[in-house]
Amino acid sequence: MKFFIDTANVEAIRKAHERGMVDGVTTNPTLVAKEGRDFRQIVEEIASFVEGPISLEVVSEDAEGMIEEARELNGWIDNAAIKIPMTWEGLKAVRVLASEDIKTNVTLCFSANQALLAAKAGATFVSPFIGRLDDVGHTGMQLIADVVQIYANYGYDTEVIVASIRHPIHVYEAALLGADIATIPPAVLDKMVNHPLTDVGIKRFLADWERVKKKS
Ligand code: G3P
Repeated sequence: MKFFIDTANVEAIRKAHERGMVDGVTTNPTLVAKEGRDFRQIVEEIASFVEGPISLEVVSEDAEGMIEEARELNGWIDNAAIKIPMTWEGLKAVRVLASEDIKTNVTLCFSANQALLAAKAGATFVSPFIGRLDDVGHTGMQLIADVVQIYANYGYDTEVIVASIRHPIHVYEAALLGADIATIPPAVLDKMVNHPLTDVGIKRFLADWERVKKKS
């Protein structure tokens, strides 16, 4: 399973990268706005050490505008994936960008049919937002199960990025379902290593080792 980091915070990405856990990065306008910095500068800094795809989102609403923005963003770095919203205009843009070998990530996907359309349009990635579905009383992970199954039924190459992850159980369940990628907020990645029995175990081993040292 590939791990992308869902943030535009360069230091957080660097920390996860040093831990060997960054196969790519996803950003969105909200995450970029949080940083209060120049978008292009952020992107170039991330690309200076991340080799995998870095998702950068367009903000146009018409296909022509999206395509123009996508070409521009794609020119900034060698490993861009252009995030395109899940609309008919977005799908038109995906089709054109696919023919130009520009990677796309269809975002704001909330249904299996939307994911099917994204695959048919030739998207490189699709991002179902599971946390936001959970927030409105749906079972976000069921969408992942459905999309993974549908893509397998027809052999689509589009990779599933489990997005809007809120806690470690989301990552665990996505992995059980065989999703290609989880895009994980840094705080969730931090939590994934924790287990109280690990802490207790280390404490006990170190205490016992002190007794061994006293005897040698
Ligand atoms: O990258 C987009 C996605 O992960 C957003 O997450 O928490 O704003 O629903 P969230």
